[in-house]
Amino acid sequence: MAVFAVVNRKGGTGKSTLATHLAAYLAGLGHEVMLGDVDRQQSSRLWLGLRPETRPPIHGWTIDDRNFARPPAGVKHVVLDTPGGFTGIGLMKVAMYADAILIPATPSLFDRRAAADCIKELRGLPRVQLGKCRLASVGMRIDGRTRNAQLLEAWAGQEGIEHLGTIKEAQIYARCLEQGLSMFDFPRNRSIDMYLAEWTAISAWVDATLAETALAPAAPAANPQPGNVVHVRPTPILKPVPLLRSVAAERRGADLSGTTADTPAFLRAS
Ligand SMILES: Nc1ncnc2c1ncn2[C@@H]1O[C@H](COP(=O)(O)OP(=O)(O)OP(=O)(O)O)[C@@H](O)[C@H]1O
Ligand SMILES: [Mg+2]
Repeated sequence: MAVFAVVNRKGGTGKSTLATHLAAYLAGLGHEVMLGDVDRQQSSRLWLGLRPETRPPIHGWTIDDRNFARPPAGVKHVVLDTPGGFTGIGLMKVAMYADAILIPATPSLFDRRAAADCIKELRGLPRVQLGKCRLASVGMRIDGRTRNAQLLEAWAGQEGIEHLGTIKEAQIYARCLEQGLSMFDFPRNRSIDMYLAEWTAISAWVDATLAETALAPAAPAANPQPGNVVHVRPTPILKPVPLLRSVAAERRGADLSGTTADTPAFLRAS
């Protein structure tokens, strides 16, 4: 089992966007995945509730600082979304089980400083120090007309953290969040491929973490805390959409006969 967490003490940097995309990527690979929401806003849980039934399923797990324990037994992989201002004991608890932590970074000086502080705190935690939890940053909401992608790459170099590139600012991400979707849920076409290209390094990093944790001896999992595992009933809110060709399924060479490659109208608008 692999546990991924998305952390940045600065609010609004794209943590929930990254967490939902990681979960959807893993689900698209056919894995049993649980999206844990440590955030009081419950953004990821809200997203899960909007997820159409036609897309690869993801289980919900509502947790807070008090009831956070080991991920429940039987779950293959876990993705944890965390709130802004997440430091101290809460962060320590998450880092006790995380195999990989992704830090979404945005370019402003204040945001880089907050991300640097977060990296410093993470580096002080035992599992990170022991090399059992890998860290990486990713630039989020980058305006493609600026040099902010390079700025963040240089910043990550200074911080000595692995950098997985940048995700450009695009309206489609806000729409995905509102529809329980991710870029990994759409049929491939040129426009989707353009967006997915930005996820290549992140997907490879996830794949590498999966491979690494598969080799590591399995830690004993805890029993689920009564009432904190939430199986969110997905609510289809799009017009009936034919079963979509998932990117991951396509990669696996799954039999996709009978599916269509229609792109939802809202995608074409961006
Ligand atoms: N690449 C992107 N392009 C455009 N909008 C984006 C992008 N990434 C995220 N957003 C939007 O930015 C807003 C904040 O993103 P998100 O909720 O993922 O951040 P967060 O770090 O989880 O915020 P919080 O700290 O409040 O939990 C959302 O409206 C989201 O749709
Ligand atoms: Mg959030």
